[in-house]
Amino acid sequence: MKVLIVGSGGREHAIAQSVAKSPKVDKIYCAPGNAGIASIAECVDIKAMELKKLADFADKEKIDLTIIGMDDPLVAGVVDVFEAKGLRVFGPAKNAAIIEGSKAFSKDLMKKYNIPTAAYEVFDSPEAAREYLKDCNYPIVLKADGLALGKGVLICEDKAAAMDGVKTLMEDKQFGDAGNTIVIEEFLTGREVSVLCYCDGNTIKPMTSAQDHKRAKDNDEGLNTGGMGTFSPSPFYTKEVQEFCETKVFQPTIDAMKNEGRPFKGILFVGLILTPAGPRVLEYNARFGDPEAQVVLPRMKTDIIDVMEACIDGKLDETELEFEDNAAVCVILASDGYPESYEKGKVITGLDAFDGKEGFYVYHSGTKFDGDNIVTNGGRVLGVTAKGADLKEARANAYKATEWISFDNKYMRHDIGKAIDEA
Ligand code: AMP
Ligand code: GLY
Repeated sequence: MKVLIVGSGGREHAIAQSVAKSPKVDKIYCAPGNAGIASIAECVDIKAMELKKLADFADKEKIDLTIIGMDDPLVAGVVDVFEAKGLRVFGPAKNAAIIEGSKAFSKDLMKKYNIPTAAYEVFDSPEAAREYLKDCNYPIVLKADGLALGKGVLICEDKAAAMDGVKTLMEDKQFGDAGNTIVIEEFLTGREVSVLCYCDGNTIKPMTSAQDHKRAKDNDEGLNTGGMGTFSPSPFYTKEVQEFCETKVFQPTIDAMKNEGRPFKGILFVGLILTPAGPRVLEYNARFGDPEAQVVLPRMKTDIIDVMEACIDGKLDETELEFEDNAAVCVILASDGYPESYEKGKVITGLDAFDGKEGFYVYHSGTKFDGDNIVTNGGRVLGVTAKGADLKEARANAYKATEWISFDNKYMRHDIGKAIDEA
């Protein structure tokens, strides 16, 4: 069969690698892709938000399955555009992708269906938000309602910072219209865990757990980023926590969406925080995480095409999901200065050191071809993933492999998976 993947990051590279393992697949396309994805897929020059062009391409090339990696096209309704043409596509429809597209929607859904989350209020006007902030407990969390590349969340230590935050989000509109509405919510503490789940509208099957590192610098300092590294599984996601999440969070969420007339098909990414009072949902995403996919997918034994087809056909209950009994760690190699300003176009060397090395992977995020060279082309450049028998071995392997790669302004965190030592 022919498969089209939509997106251009490390996540899509990891998806493409899983797809390439399926014996059912003859040909993979990726739109727009990157220099790494180009080694396993034919890259097509269509951007992820060119929804109609993507569907026209899939129609013309007789693509059997399209997999949407990114959030923006999902929230904009790419699945509806494909389905209107009778094309098979993996991902939630627009009316279900809103679970990521609007934090106010997802918070109201959790409240209505008693899904554990932080207490909150929703505000459409800066005046009302300021009035509320006069009289609440600090720290407090401000969130832009819409998509903001994972950066629209402000943790405010005191009233002055929160008042500034309202200005940033609602008046200066740092994240554009995403900040027209904001959610103000209780500050929670605990370890964070990401659980990505396959869904077919009725059934939800969680994958192995992972933990991201969102801050730019060691010891969780610096600005929020798209994610600087991950490990899987999380030792803090115990059997007990898992059982709680399955009965109180995952199935209730999928049932709630169905009950609202918004059946959710695709990947539901549940961002959890394990508080002293129990697990709480921090956020939902409607797609694989980046870089969570880079540690979860290499450990998946089940054929990804079989699972995705089962989701589309409403037969997920007949499918068994299997993961390897090992661990993986991904360290992001970024351009120094990310997530603020940084230089691009630096020549990358050492990529071929990964060739033929079992259990070591280099996923491209921001790379492109420049003549015969591969050069940096973004803030997050590469994701170096390694497996190991356990988390410690995986982490040692991943850091060893980061040394194989060189480029001028290479930057990484040195404490990805440090929490493993405390488990
Ligand atoms: P979100 O995009 O909603 O996952 O938020 C991004 C990050 O902000 C999360 O991964 C947490 O580290 C932090 N965060 C979000 N909501 C809260 C909260 N209610 N309490 C504490 N930290 C939070
Ligand atoms: N790594 C977090 C995300 O993909 O949203």
